Amino acid sequence: MDIQTEFKKIFGGLPEKIFRAPGLVNLLGEHTDYNAGFVLPMAIDRAVLIAARRRADRVVRMIARDFDHARSEFSLDAITRDDAHAWSNYVRGVAAMLHARGYNLPGVDLLIRGDVPRGSGLSSSAALEVCAATMFAAIAQLDISKIEIAQVCQRAENEFVGVQCGIMDQFASARARADHALLIDCRDLTHELVALPRGAVIVVCDTMKRRGLVASEYNTRRAECEHAARLLGAPSLRDVSREEIARRENELPPVIARRARHVITENARVLDAVIAARQNDLAAFGRGMNESHASLRDDFAVSCAELDAMVEIARGQRGCFGARLTGAGFGGCTVNLVAEDSVEEFCAQVAREYASRVSVAPQIYACRAADGAGEIFD
Ligand code: GLA
Repeated sequence: MDIQTEFKKIFGGLPEKIFRAPGLVNLLGEHTDYNAGFVLPMAIDRAVLIAARRRADRVVRMIARDFDHARSEFSLDAITRDDAHAWSNYVRGVAAMLHARGYNLPGVDLLIRGDVPRGSGLSSSAALEVCAATMFAAIAQLDISKIEIAQVCQRAENEFVGVQCGIMDQFASARARADHALLIDCRDLTHELVALPRGAVIVVCDTMKRRGLVASEYNTRRAECEHAARLLGAPSLRDVSREEIARRENELPPVIARRARHVITENARVLDAVIAARQNDLAAFGRGMNESHASLRDDFAVSCAELDAMVEIARGQRGCFGARLTGAGFGGCTVNLVAEDSVEEFCAQVAREYASRVSVAPQIYACRAADGAGEIFD
């Protein structure tokens, strides 16, 4: 059933507007965003949709189709959490942060649904936040930029949901463009579109291992990176060069040195990959992805057996230029750069080999780079 019809069935009238915000996959630049570094994500052709209609009062009423049509509602005059419906906290958090910035919001009826896999590192929560912010901005006719939307959503996640994520996911979901990746400098949020190299396809492989440890380990890694920057006397790891860390590594405790080395070399890999993309050098781009995985596994220690198995299987296939874990790690997905004419065989063969090695059937998606969030007009 399309979202208009479903909305009408539930709320007894058509929605005023429909919004969409995509999930995303990060091609390179992992655990660099909260170190003021570089990232290179692209939006994927899977998204969260919200159908919305303004109400006369100050109530936000939400129905989530993908959670058995669960329902949660709150008053804009007292925005509280609803941990029985954790999904609703993303919308609540966005409303609370818009409110904190002085924006005045009307009550709305919302039907939420989507096809971004959850808990697998494709940023379904950022997509929901950005979709909610885009919806509130349009319904309330706010004068607000895409960058501010991303900042509001990141704050919602940091302060309301309680996850200390960087800004990459929200920024990319708000600002991405079809057929392009987005190079973001997370220090000042300047960004550039980077055309994806021709002749290859981005394939996402979901290990189906859900990311259990992610919140506590993520926060530990953040603290270790900040510790490294302090010991090196730098404002952030972004300000330390590859040469400097190679020279000064032994001034740091060994674990801290490894974390720093990952972030610093990863920033350089992002910039090298942008050059490779511009020269359509698929082999060089893929090499950067492979090196990133090794660095995330050995120095940053955020991989796991399933991710390593998926990467190894992918690299054994014809036409695979590069493979690495994507997102925070500890489970979730890998991202792969695969020659166009090998994609079908790649997907079938990786699915077969992974299922026989790990005894779990993976999900595999060949992705197109999609546009960032916006209203859907039909
Ligand atoms: C998660 C966070 C992002 C980023 C990645 C790791 O996806 O939401 O901000 O830090 O991990 O690169």
